[in-house]
Parts: sequence; structure tokens; C-alpha cells
Amino acid sequence: MGLMDGKVALIFGLANKNSIAWGITKRLHDEGAAIALSYAGEIMEKRVFPLANEINCDFVEPCDVTSDEQLDAIFAKVKDRYGRLDTLVHCVAFANREDLGGRFVDISREGFKLALDISAYSLIGMAKRAEPLMTDGGSIISLTYYAAEKVMPKYHVMAVAKAALETITRYLANDLGPKGIRVNAISAGPIKTLAAAGVPGFRMMLKYSEKAAPLRRLVSQEDVGDTALYLASDLSRNVTGETIHVDAGYNILGLTATEDELAGLVE
Ligand SMILES: NC(=O)c1ccc[n+]([C@@H]2O[C@H](COP(=O)([O-])OP(=O)(O)OC[C@H]3O[C@@H](n4cnc5c(N)ncnc54)[C@H](O)[C@@H]3O)[C@@H](O)[C@H]2O)c1
Repeated sequence: MGLMDGKVALIFGLANKNSIAWGITKRLHDEGAAIALSYAGEIMEKRVFPLANEINCDFVEPCDVTSDEQLDAIFAKVKDRYGRLDTLVHCVAFANREDLGGRFVDISREGFKLALDISAYSLIGMAKRAEPLMTDGGSIISLTYYAAEKVMPKYHVMAVAKAALETITRYLANDLGPKGIRVNAISAGPIKTLAAAGVPGFRMMLKYSEKAAPLRRLVSQEDVGDTALYLASDLSRNVTGETIHVDAGYNILGLTATEDELAGLVE
């Protein structure tokens, strides 16, 4: 018996084998979920189709989340195929390179709109279309980052998008709660993926997180997959509106410098 037996999960944001979406997909599949996959568009096909094959998934559909028509189309296909939906996973984010790094005050209006549209509004657009399919309640999960709470170098427009995403999570949780639909976010520590490569200085952040985090290790796609399984399954039946950190404890620190670094300052 798997924790996801009989449940249907629609997962957005699979780009390649390093995607957090893939870590989550594998975990939900292992526990018996029927998996429907969505990817951004044609240029992603080469990497996405072989992954779908690995789990014998034949629901693999493109959807650019900036398009209401494409969102309508994919949810209609889920309805045709499965008749309902239990789990929705949002692993989608994008910002123009010039709006990550540089100076925060230089973020352009167009860059702001684009990043917030793709990375935050899309969760509302998906939830609206998932609601009528979640006839037996459901679980909606998205991915966020600590830069929404505290200033992190270079994260800039994406930090604003993640702050919006976390607030959207709470408002959706309140709106959809009476229907038994839970909405939560996972705040993951830094993981080497395609999206992360767009953040200047990301490799340094990885190294530093590993040194500073209480558990002294990095977070993997599998770690996020396990927490996603908890949120997708009935194990978390009374948990909603939360942002759960999967970051080896980094977010609890007030001062991230190690004892050695601090000692170095006074010598
Ligand atoms: N990697 C990290 O360190 C980290 C940490 C915390 C949170 N996150 C979040 O995890 C989520 C997944 O990112 P990832 O790190 O696995 O990288 P990734 O590049 O594998 O995934 C990002 C996905 O967003 C998709 N996407 C971008 N624009 C789109 C659009 N217009 N329509 C549809 N899809 C679009 C991409 O195709 C890609 O599949 C993102 O929300 C990211 O911000 C990542």
C-alpha cells in the first residue's frame, strides 16, 4: 500500500533530471500516485519525455503558465483523462537575468511583471482551475525560498515573487479550505538546478549554506520530495497555509557566521 494510492497528481515545472519537480514526481509515483506532467514548451521536450518514460507516464503536456488558454487546456485534459485531481504541484519560476543581481532599485517594471506573473500569479491561475477537479478535497504545493523572508544577495525580483507566493499560499488556503483543499509551500535550501544557475554567485551560496546550516549539509531534490509526499498525502490532513522549511535548519539562524569565522574577527 502506497501513501498516494488512488490519487492523481498534476506536476508543473519539470525541465530535467535535476529539477525539484523530478524529485517530487519520483516520490509521489513511488507511493502509487497517477502522475500527469507539464513542462514549459518545445525546447524542454528532449529532456522531459525520457524522464516521463522512466515512470511510464504518458500524460506529458506543454503549458506556458503565462497563458490562460494553455492553463485552461491542460486542466481540461486532466479532467478528460482522470475526471478529477488530488494533488497539484507548482515548481515554476522565472526572472530575466538582469533582474537578478545588479542593484535592486534597477528592477524594471516589465521585468517585475514577468517574474511575478510566471512565479507567483500562476499559482492562483492553477488553483482556480484545480478547485472544481478536487472533488474529494486536495493538496496544492509550491516551492519557495528564504529570500522571501530575509535579504539574500542577488535574489532581488525573485525574492519579491516568493514573498507574493507565500502570501498567496495563505490566502488560497483560507479560500479553498472549506472545500477540503489544503495549500502549502516548501521553502527549500539551495539546490543546483537550471533555475538556480540563473542566480549570480549561486555556487558560493551553496558552499556557504553547507558550512553554516545547523545540520551542516545541503538539501537534495529527494529531501524536498519526501516533504512534498507528506504534504500531498493524508499524513498532513490538518496542515494548511504553511511554509515548511526544508533547509537543514538555515532559517533559524540569527548569525550565520561559523565559530571559526567569528574567532578570526577578534584575533
Ligand atoms: N534550486 C533551488 O535552490 C531552489 C530553492 C528554493 C526554491 N526553488 C524553487 O523551486 C522551483 C523549481 O525550480 P528548480 O530549482 O527545480 O529549477 P528548474 O529550472 O528545474 O525548474 C523551474 C521550472 O520553471 C519552468 N518555467 C519557467 N517559466 C515557465 C513558464 N512561463 N511556463 C511554464 N513553466 C515555466 C521551467 O521550464 C522549469 O521547468 C522554483 O519555484 C524555484 O524558485 C528552487
